[in-house]
Parts: sequence; C-alpha cells; structure tokens
Amino acid sequence: HAGRLWGGRFAGGSAPAMATLSRSTQFDWRLAPYDLAGSVAHARALHRAGLLTDDELAGMLDGLETLSGEVASGAFRPSPADEDVHGALERRLTEVVGPELGGRLRAGRSRNDQIATLLRLWLRDHLRLVAGAVSEVVVALHDQATAHLGVPMPGRTHLQHAQPVLLSHHLLAHAWPLLRDVDRMRDLDARLALSPYGSGALAGTSLGLDPTFVAHELGFADAVANSIDGTSARDLAAEAAYVLAQVGIDLSRLSEDVILWCTYEFGFARLDDAWSTGSSIMPQKKNPDVAELARGKAGRLVGNLAGLLTTLKGLPLAYARDLQEDKEPLFDSVDQLLVLLPAVAGMVGTLTFDAERLASLAPRGFSLATDLADWLVRERVPFAVAHDVAGAAVRYCEARGLELSELTPDRLAEISPLLRPEVLDVLTVSGSIDSRDGRGGTATVRVREQLDEVATALDAA
Ligand code: ARG
Repeated sequence: HAGRLWGGRFAGGSAPAMATLSRSTQFDWRLAPYDLAGSVAHARALHRAGLLTDDELAGMLDGLETLSGEVASGAFRPSPADEDVHGALERRLTEVVGPELGGRLRAGRSRNDQIATLLRLWLRDHLRLVAGAVSEVVVALHDQATAHLGVPMPGRTHLQHAQPVLLSHHLLAHAWPLLRDVDRMRDLDARLALSPYGSGALAGTSLGLDPTFVAHELGFADAVANSIDGTSARDLAAEAAYVLAQVGIDLSRLSEDVILWCTYEFGFARLDDAWSTGSSIMPQKKNPDVAELARGKAGRLVGNLAGLLTTLKGLPLAYARDLQEDKEPLFDSVDQLLVLLPAVAGMVGTLTFDAERLASLAPRGFSLATDLADWLVRERVPFAVAHDVAGAAVRYCEARGLELSELTPDRLAEISPLLRPEVLDVLTVSGSIDSRDGRGGTATVRVREQLDEVATALDAA
C-alpha cells in the first residue's frame, strides 16, 4: 500500500471501479494550496508538542515549500492512483523528504478534519472574491443612477403602469439586495472563522496537539468547540450555497428588467455592442445574452443549493462519505458567479437609456391617479371617497381617450364637484415624484440621499 493513506488491514487492492468511484482529485485538487497551508500549521503543532525535532520541522517545512512550488507551477499533479488531494500531497511529500519524515506528518489528524478545514478556508477566500465582484455590479448601478438622476420612468406593479418613479430609484432598488448579499457573505465569514483542524476523525486530537494554535496559524479566530460538529456539519456550506444562489436570483431579476427594457415594445434602453450578441441567421438581431445567461445560471445555482441540502438531509453524525458531495456544487456556484458577475457589471454599466421615451411614458396608463386621490385627501376628503372620485376620472378619460393631465376645468367639474381646477397642478410627473419624499421614497431628495448611502455601503464592502 505504498503511496496510499490506508491499506494495512486490506489483503488486496481496490477494484478499479471502486477506485474510480472513490477518486476526488479531479475536483478537490484545487484545494491543494490550502491543504499545504494546513500541513505547515500541523507540522508546527507537532513540533510544539515535541513530536518533531527542530531539524525535522525544518526539513518538513522545506519539503512543503518545495511542494507548494510544484503545485503552483503544475510540475506536480495527482496521478490516477491518488484517491484525493490529501493522499496525493502526502505521497509527493514522502518522495521529497523521504518516508521516515514524510510518514510523521499524518500523526494526530484525519482527512475528516482536514477537508472540513480546507473547505472553510476556500470558502472564506472565494466568498470575498464573489463579494468584490458583486460590489462591481452595485458600482455600475450606482454610476447609472447618478448619471440619470432626474429621469422619470413608468413605475410598475404587476407589470402594469402604477406610479411614476425616478429611473435612479428603480436602478438602486437592484443595488440594495446585492449589497445585502455582500453583507450576508461577511456575516457568514464570521461563522466560517472557526477551524475544524484538530477535530481528528470525529473525537478530537490526541498527542497534545493544540487546535487553537493551528486555527490561529491558518487565520481562523479559534478552533471549533465540538469535534463531531467540526467534522460533520455542513450547514455553513449550505449557507454559502444559499447566498451564492441568492446572488444569482438577484442578478436574474435585474436581468429580466434589462431584457424587457431592451425589447422593441418597451424601448427603454439599448445594450452596448460589447455586451450583446447577434444572430447567425437574422442580421438585425441584438440579443441580451448576458442577461439571459444570468437568468439561466440562477437556476443552476438554485440547483446546487438544492442538491447540497438534499445530500445533508438525514445524514447521521459523524462524518460519512456522502459529505464529499459538498464540494462540486460550491465550486460550481462560485465559478459561475465569478464568470457572470463581471459581464453583468459590464452590461449594466454600458446600457444607454432613452430618457425621452421613459419620461413620456411615465404619466401614461393613468399613473397619476393616486396623486389625484392624494390631492383630495389634502382637501380633507376621506380617502375612500377620493379613491372613488379618482377612479371615476380614470373611467371618464379611458372612455374618451384622454390622459388625466388633459382634463380641463369643465371636464373635472363634470366628473365631480370636488375636483377644482387646482388639482391639475399635481397631475404632473415631477410633482408626483417629488411628493413622495418620505424616507425611502422616489422624490429626488430621497434618491440623492440613497446615492450617498449606497456609496457609503460600497466603501464599507
Ligand atoms: N475526500 C473526502 C471528502 O471530500 C475527504 C475525507 C475523506 N475521509 C474518509 N474517511 N474517506 O469528504
């Protein structure tokens, strides 16, 4: 069983199909730098416990350094006989420093605490990368919102014209969920900051090794409080998969807006050539493929979350090999987002808006009816009555092909004696928008305030 991490109690080798099933190097090899960092910390812990002499520690660290270089350059790759990243690296270490020293490193640790630790290290680094890329999308939204402050658009509910809003307000409405995703990743990092190293196979470390020392060496705040939990919990992996899926969903909703806005019928915005694609048969086409891939990948990210949760459901404590299935969905979700996020940022940042069209459509579809009702309320009319009168005005206009703003004093009087000509003053888009000046509203002052708040959140992100 030379070059393998186990085998003493087995008379023969694994069946080829068994080895193929068991092998995980094709996806866990990307954890090799983290495995080596763990080994450096573990070697120091062995030395502190008196299990490695000064010379042995120096030799071990030299060997691990050599190995790091070989891994980084690609000079060393796992062979088909290596079961996993841990086995491959120990095999190579033993080749580099010799079996006498190489065989000492594994004392007091298990692949169960190793893999749980490596996954946390990997997640901490990569969630930070994802958060940075998410922030770039927020920057693009913030830039567009800043550039278009003052442009009104039709605000919709149920996709029907509802009330006019500022385009900037709508764009920032996509920024906030993404900022919360960044926040979620930061929150999660605090939970990921406990090291399972030293949990051993499940029962904890023997040989006087100090898990807290190893944790600090690896940049963790402390070691986990329970070794069974440390080796077999994957709720944090699931939480990461959730946050990554939520990023996908938030990008997908933003993308759906972009897709609609860029249709001929909406005509709100145009995609930059660099961030759209053509058709192989229809020469006129300019397709929103970035947005569509975002929408599509969101489904894949939700699938990764669902798959991981399903793997975990019903698993008894402690470690079981099922847990090996945790890595590919997480790696995939991160890989997909790191490709997708820069493209979404590019697409959003280069959208051109048809401000004139947005402004001209803002009051259409009787979107000022609420303002008419609000005017009546300020005239001390009960809102229920005001709602009815405004509804009657809409019905009147609809029957005659008019907009509310086209009502004359005579027509207003015909609809209701409550509608004095002064009501016409509030039947404007800018009047409507700037009247919504409570905190969080679409009034220009509030949107300006939001721009500052988003900028502050970006500084902190
Ligand atoms: N490849 C395993 C995983 O990803 C590492 C731990 C293996 N432990 C074991 N006893 N086979 O979970």
